[in-house]
Amino acid sequence: MTAQSLPTLTDRIEAIMAAAIRRAVPEAGQVDALVRRSDHADYQSNAALPLAKRLGQKPRDLATSALEHLDRRDLIADAVVSGPGFVNLRLTDAAIWGQVAVRLADSRLGIGQPEAGSITPIDYSAPNVAKQMHVGHLRTTVIGDTLARLLEFLGARVIRQNHLGDWGTQFGMLIQYLDEHPDAEWHRAGDDVTDNIIALDELYRRSRTQFNEDEAFADRARARVVALQSGDAATLRAWRDLVRVSMAAFNAIYDRLGVDLTDADIAGESFYNDQLDNVVQELVDAGIAVESEGALCVFFDEFTGPDDNPVPLIIRKSDGGYGYATTDLATIRHRIRDLRATRVLYVVDARQSMHFQMIFATARRAGWLTADVEVVHTAFGTILGPDGRPFKTRSGGTVPLTQLLDEAVAAARAVVAEKNPDLPPADLDSIAEAAGIGAVKYADLSTARTTDYRFDPAKMVALTGNTGVYLQYAHTRTASILRKAQGMAPAVDPAVTMTESERALALHLDAYGHALTETAELYEPHRLATYLYNLAKLFSAFYENSPILTAPTPTHRHNRLALTALTQQTLYNGLSLLGITPLDRM
Ligand code: ARG
Repeated sequence: MTAQSLPTLTDRIEAIMAAAIRRAVPEAGQVDALVRRSDHADYQSNAALPLAKRLGQKPRDLATSALEHLDRRDLIADAVVSGPGFVNLRLTDAAIWGQVAVRLADSRLGIGQPEAGSITPIDYSAPNVAKQMHVGHLRTTVIGDTLARLLEFLGARVIRQNHLGDWGTQFGMLIQYLDEHPDAEWHRAGDDVTDNIIALDELYRRSRTQFNEDEAFADRARARVVALQSGDAATLRAWRDLVRVSMAAFNAIYDRLGVDLTDADIAGESFYNDQLDNVVQELVDAGIAVESEGALCVFFDEFTGPDDNPVPLIIRKSDGGYGYATTDLATIRHRIRDLRATRVLYVVDARQSMHFQMIFATARRAGWLTADVEVVHTAFGTILGPDGRPFKTRSGGTVPLTQLLDEAVAAARAVVAEKNPDLPPADLDSIAEAAGIGAVKYADLSTARTTDYRFDPAKMVALTGNTGVYLQYAHTRTASILRKAQGMAPAVDPAVTMTESERALALHLDAYGHALTETAELYEPHRLATYLYNLAKLFSAFYENSPILTAPTPTHRHNRLALTALTQQTLYNGLSLLGITPLDRM
């Protein structure tokens, strides 16, 4: 398959209808036939109404005349004007079967590579060294992973960028503390990576407390920051240890989540450290950054605080230090200038929206961000606890991500065990893990990106409704039918009369590419999730209405197997793009 997608039935109807309208009313010029799926027919064209209004004609007359000019080919079985001037179109069974056959014969299901040529760094996950990944890192990690997979499938060159929080004054404090407490246990070779980071997280908190309460320690910690920044060997070694132990724990979570991130994707804050002087100099030279109360700042007309005073982006603090913003300026410059990005995605919490708007505005003024580059803060909402408030532990702390995953896997295990009591324990373990992790990811991805949602393990592992488990079951059902059909090839005979449930399923299957491009254009994974959920429901209706293995004739059986196979491959592809394991049995 090349960059071109197989034209969908919608595309083909659109072209035929548009040509008919042009022939009927040549003065109309370029027209969009506005072809949509419809409840009243297979498709409906809604072009006559706005066009007739524009040309001062009667919509029904215009629609009728268009139908007289319609070149039906072997595609359109029936076309009638309805209501005030809609055109209802019914396709031939053969055209629909033909489309199923062509998609099934292509390993990419007829989906092209419309993203070919784009270079897209995606900034996602970005946990902070010496702290456990917490609930706040779930959304960025799974949404970023999905967007990366999807854009890559559509032909983009995706550059995964894990912008680790691995630099800053807090590491001076922590390293100083560890130095003064050589007995504090936080990493023991070969030990559990999660235990290590839990211990480290605790020491981090203690060092913070001492920093706040003990002035002499605070001074030593500040001296340690200077040592770190000037490259003192022992300090750097200690810092590397912190990164290594933290990454081991992060990688364990990435493995468990099935997220495509490796050490090769790390471009953390420390990576930009030696570019910060230069970035700041460039902004000063260009007159973009100005002194204000001892700090260097960028001001904007469009960003003001509650008192209407301009909110500055601080790029050098009055003590001479650089912060999060300066690093993000170096980052955007690097991505555009060195990585040659045509588009950059930042999958980061919606609460950082103002920060990114300021970064983008500054980069635009500096001339780094030009009109041919698209930068998007693909912001997301908050995960709420069972009480509908931001998710916290009882003591008010952040909830570790591993704990959430364990809860979901336990809930999935109960559901799977009840549904299939005969599963051998080892299979139950692996299925529960895949179902629980899939459920967490699906609950997240099926929610509109910017919406907050409640973390509710019982609901997310339900066997029915819009859940990951329901979709995984739908996939196992298709797989099981195809297993049982051994030897019966899913071949398509276009002469077979189609049932309504076959028709609804086949037309939905044909729209898969559209669901993918829409998801990619809006960066909204829930659109793909909704598509797959509807696919699973249509398959289920088809399965109930049209016996597959016991179909009336071998030809019917073959055609239904073809529909089953295309459903299986579409579900497999879609679940994989969402990063959810398509299971063969549960
Ligand atoms: N480490 C940050 C956090 O945990 C997220 C970084 C997002 N990426 C960026 N380029 N600022 O909130």
